[in-house]
Amino acid sequence: MAPTVSVRGLEKSYPLGESKVEVLRGLDLEVAPAELVAVMGPSGVGKSTLLNCIAGLDGADAGVVEVLGRDLATMDDNARTLARRRAIGIIYQFFNLVPNLDVEENVTLPYLIDGEAPDRAAVRTSLERVGMSHRATHLPSQLSGGEMQLVSIARAIARTPRLLLADEPTGNVNVATGKRIMTLLQEVLKETDCAMLLVTHNPDDAARADRVVFLKDGAIDPTSSLIGGDVSVGAIHTRLQKLDI
Ligand SMILES: Nc1ncnc2c1ncn2[C@@H]1O[C@H](COP(=O)(O)OP(=O)(O)O)[C@@H](O)[C@H]1O
Ligand SMILES: [Mg+2]
Repeated sequence: MAPTVSVRGLEKSYPLGESKVEVLRGLDLEVAPAELVAVMGPSGVGKSTLLNCIAGLDGADAGVVEVLGRDLATMDDNARTLARRRAIGIIYQFFNLVPNLDVEENVTLPYLIDGEAPDRAAVRTSLERVGMSHRATHLPSQLSGGEMQLVSIARAIARTPRLLLADEPTGNVNVATGKRIMTLLQEVLKETDCAMLLVTHNPDDAARADRVVFLKDGAIDPTSSLIGGDVSVGAIHTRLQKLDI
């Protein structure tokens, strides 16, 4: 079976005045179907840049980014956008809900953007799944941070994505809600065989992953990854200390 994500030799820099900031310098990463991979690393190292390149929200300077066996660079813009929206669910640190749309409309929006008839039942089911049905007609401003994140998860899972990209999904919610969010995401992965790339600073969240990788100096640190039975909160703390993260 093709990996859900295959990144090879990914390079990405941003212009900075006359020069440029080299963020990713030949990054390799594979994510298997149904696999949960946590990505850890210091602020500014390029974790969000990596997710954006995989999502197709940002273009690579060099290297290959394949999602479900398809190379984003070889698809035209329209095809890339559609393929991405259907196959990938994105969960942002700051929720990215549209402020003047209510909860149900926010979860429905991806269908409308793609010119698809909304699957009302799927929208309702995903709101139920995250426990937010009773807030369907609320505006984002009428929700707590944790509730906004739950709605953004409903939006991400409504179309049963093959890949979830979660960028510090528990970074702006209280500890109890963060745990609830992680448990929910793990349940969704199990039920649908969806893969997830989880960016997190939280060792407890990362310890739920099948594999934990550490981003350093523009690439995955080759000797630090933790896999399977080696993944634990203690081992993650040790790695973070050793890598000075
Ligand atoms: N659109 C952009 N333009 C210029 N620099 C950027 C842009 N996006 C990110 N950067 C820079 O790239 C580096 C990596 O950013 P980011 O991927 O957001 O880091 P992380 O998510 O690991 O904290 C940072 O130095 C950041 O300032
Ligand atoms: Mg980031």
